[in-house]
Amino acid sequence: TGHFTYDPGFTSTASCESKITYIDGEEGVLLYRGYPIEQLAEKGNFLESCYLLLNGELPTAAEFKEFDKAITNHTMVHEQMQFFLRGFRRDAHPMAIMCGMVGALSAFYHDSTDINDPVQRMIASRRLIAKIPTLAAMAYKYSVGQPVVYPKNSLGYAENFLHMCFSVPAEEYKVDPILARAMDRIFILHADHEQNASTSTVRLAGSSGANPFACIAAGIACLWGPAHGGANEAALEMLREIGTVDRIPEYIAKAKDKNDPFRLMGFGHRVYKNYDPRARVMQKTCHEVLQVLGIKDDPLLDVAIELERIALSDSYFIEKKLYPNIDFYSGITLKAMGFPTTMFTVLFALARTVGWVAQWNEMIEDPDQRIGRPRQLYTGAPRRDYVSFDKRK
Ligand code: CMC
Repeated sequence: TGHFTYDPGFTSTASCESKITYIDGEEGVLLYRGYPIEQLAEKGNFLESCYLLLNGELPTAAEFKEFDKAITNHTMVHEQMQFFLRGFRRDAHPMAIMCGMVGALSAFYHDSTDINDPVQRMIASRRLIAKIPTLAAMAYKYSVGQPVVYPKNSLGYAENFLHMCFSVPAEEYKVDPILARAMDRIFILHADHEQNASTSTVRLAGSSGANPFACIAAGIACLWGPAHGGANEAALEMLREIGTVDRIPEYIAKAKDKNDPFRLMGFGHRVYKNYDPRARVMQKTCHEVLQVLGIKDDPLLDVAIELERIALSDSYFIEKKLYPNIDFYSGITLKAMGFPTTMFTVLFALARTVGWVAQWNEMIEDPDQRIGRPRQLYTGAPRRDYVSFDKRK
């Protein structure tokens, strides 16, 4: 059994070749198809990044128009999805709803589940990118007991999402362009991140030939965990628990204590051993949002800034290269925008859908693609004979 490399957590295994996203963790670099994340987040928009991730090049004006129109065409979900939604308990976690609803799309859109047909793959990819905000907003509306708001195709992608989340029939809701821009930027920052746990899950599920809706549902399930996409929710819960600046040292001590399982949520990354470049953009966006909303003294923000300052100057965190990651600031921003913490990971899933879809397509098109099938080092009992009940001790 000594033929396999034992690599728990796959820290030194490249599972595929990919042309989509490049990360240099030592230098804190993140590129989508060669373009730095900072430039895409500051100068571009999310749909343009989607096109780029899917097709390899930034779209021309005409290509963008066609893509935008195609995505817009697919924003509605089958009306029967509402019945499915109503089957959930009213206090269901929106990530539980997302796992179910996205998986269920395969039952509603059979026509685009033929993975061997490139045209059907493209339609399924566009359907997923277009419908995921609608489903996310449905999950949110359900959790607050409000009627579902249908997509409005005259609005941009992020704008439409905010409309579906925050419009109520009783009142005219106007999406603040700065908030829409911030939302769009959050989506860009989360769009792809090479072979992270959920993306690897999507690829592994897809390697068996499973349909794209099922594969993305698998990715959503994986993303839910607190060590991955669930960290933004966990980070905000942690800031709440700390509550005031004077209690920070107590939590820093807990994080450093080997015998205490507590970790500073929103700190550390498997790949970034330098500042997470997304965290830098996110921090700026966070301040913009707080300013637009007129939030001056958010105690959570005070705790966050002080926590960051202390952690960055503490030898434990410096030696272990534990820097704040994207989730550290996204939580505060999303809270300010009006999202409950239970929606944070849903927003991550929404944005990451394009990355999952792009990676899934790349995998299907890869001539070296085979079913993913890791091996193991068996450490259990050797061969032994069955014993009947009366002879067992
Ligand atoms: N607080 C305190 N100590 C930590 C932390 C933390 N947040 N993260 C890692 N460490 C310590 C850990 O105890 C270990 O110490 P030692 O070497 O003495 O045993 C060392 O740093 C290395 O940790 P690891 O668990 O071996 O590192 P990993 O690469 O397996 O884990 C991580 C990466 C992100 C899961 C981890 O840093 C963590 O749990 N962070 C908090 C959760 C979080 O913010 N996750 C979001 C990740 S970014 C968004 C995404 O892509 O999902």
